[in-house]
Amino acid sequence: MAQQNYQSVIDEIKSRCNIVDIISPLVPLKRAGTNQKGICPFHNEKTPSFVVSDAKQIFTCFGCGASGDVIEFVKRYYNLTFPEAVERLALQCGISIPESHGELGKKKEGYYEINRQAARFYFSVFAGKKNPGLTYMIQRGIEPPVLKAFGIGYADDSWDSLTKALTGQGFDQGMLLELGLISQKNGHLYDKFRSRVIFPIINTRGKVIGFGGRMIGEGEPKYLNSQESIVFQKKYNLFGLNLTRSEIQKEGYAVLVEGYMDVIGLYQHGIRNVAASLGTALTQQQARLLKRYTEKVILCYDSDQAGIDAALRGADVLRREGLEVRILNVPQEKDPDEYIRKRGREAFLNLIHKKALPDVEYKIALLKSQYDLNDTTQSIKFLQKISDILRTLTPVEADLYIGKVSAEYRISEGALRREVQRQDRNVTSSPQTKDESRGKTDPVAAVSESTLSLERMILRLILLKSEYLEGIREYPEAIVTPPGRRLISVFQELFTEDSDLELEAVRDALEEDELAYLETILREVQVGEKDEDAYADCIAKLQEQRLEKRKKEIIDLLSLAEETGSQSQLDDLMKEYMMIQQMQKR
Ligand code: UTP
Ligand code: MN
Repeated sequence: MAQQNYQSVIDEIKSRCNIVDIISPLVPLKRAGTNQKGICPFHNEKTPSFVVSDAKQIFTCFGCGASGDVIEFVKRYYNLTFPEAVERLALQCGISIPESHGELGKKKEGYYEINRQAARFYFSVFAGKKNPGLTYMIQRGIEPPVLKAFGIGYADDSWDSLTKALTGQGFDQGMLLELGLISQKNGHLYDKFRSRVIFPIINTRGKVIGFGGRMIGEGEPKYLNSQESIVFQKKYNLFGLNLTRSEIQKEGYAVLVEGYMDVIGLYQHGIRNVAASLGTALTQQQARLLKRYTEKVILCYDSDQAGIDAALRGADVLRREGLEVRILNVPQEKDPDEYIRKRGREAFLNLIHKKALPDVEYKIALLKSQYDLNDTTQSIKFLQKISDILRTLTPVEADLYIGKVSAEYRISEGALRREVQRQDRNVTSSPQTKDESRGKTDPVAAVSESTLSLERMILRLILLKSEYLEGIREYPEAIVTPPGRRLISVFQELFTEDSDLELEAVRDALEEDELAYLETILREVQVGEKDEDAYADCIAKLQEQRLEKRKKEIIDLLSLAEETGSQSQLDDLMKEYMMIQQMQKR
């Protein structure tokens, strides 16, 4: 029976996921007769021999012989097992997988059951006789029906009431430990959550996967969360989504917040299309999960600097999934929960409609506050920063903003356009044009071949000798792709003076996309006989790039200096330009 279900998932994937749609964001394809053709991702080649057939729903590489269906492609491309590939595709096209297939499914059911019983236990304490948990939540303005909807509970102050309740029901101690519900010290078992309000984290299939526990009153840590386990992986889940997804679909957008109490507070006040990223940086998987229910997200994080930074990063993650993003900072209050409590639903809705800015506008407004536009040098920096933002947009969007920004900040439209397009010239393919309809972008494709191969060579060299990391640090611009940046930061985390990089430790710290990138580099990048030479060559290229970049800056500065008529500035710039040219000759 279970097997039957699993087979039907596979069939559904094959019928719902068009292989061309799955492959084309990853491998640029061109039509060739009735098929699509591209550079094979599974071996190194210059001329395309990788063919995807829309009619047959298969891929074949005439160079290396790789071939198969959509599942086989995903499996090979991301180095996954078959069930993992199925899961990934199912998630991507919104097909749910019957949980109870195979051994892993059965094993997980046991853990879900324990969590469910733990949630029931906490809830019964909370909803029973008077207790500090209930008092606290009522005092925070959350009413019983909402408390019940979220299954809020209370872990009392005793050392082992949950331990007793669950072991009394015959559950396995080892499993309780693995789920992080209990701990063990000096041979004694005790409850992990004590004197805390309990927030069950429930996935969209209704399974309790973990818990958050808030301290009552002040204290550290304010929130305690379940450790990751076979049933709880933070990065795949959003708090509240189990209750709110239909509302999100209905409203046509989601309000994404930081904390448990933001979700519950908004919900209490009738904003029910809301979810939280569980206090971590928003992940690509969470973005994909949201995308199943909506195309639009309003990021409403805390108003402090950390919240602003997290929203900016979150916006990029969401955008990468093709979601339309707005950013909202609640004025005067710390977070959306406090805002709505003090000012009510109407005021919050008003913010959503009037103050939530499209991510691009938000970024530009933020930039503007950082530069003095009366100063020529700062104006140029401002212009470059804006161009960096606009360059990531689709051409249509970029065009719109070029007009808007130049009018609003009185920057020459021509200069802005030139600046935005300048780096475009290096670009081999613009993912936005290629993929506009789906809105998916492949960050790697937006970078020129030479920049990309330089980045790969550098990463390969560091993997060979971690001492190269030190020198490369001087050139942060050398690493341009998101997986590349992530690799560098992992290298830095893992590299200490007295230990070399352990490849296995690096692998463990990576997400699957990044891992795939690492493996490609290890497989494909050839360093040659002397790595010292290869390294010196990289550094020379980076220095050359800097000089080229500065020359371009100078040209912009010159045209501005001409407008403002500053002769001495003109002279200095000319001098610098000529000096660079001489250096380049040498
Ligand atoms: P905040 O510190 O902003 O808390 O953390 P909050 O949501 O406003 O909570 P209240 O209103 O003080 O009760 C935001 C989120 O970050 C995670 C939690 O998910 C929290 O909801 N967090 C925070 C932790 O996991 N641990 C902590 O110690 C603090
Ligand atoms: Mn709060």
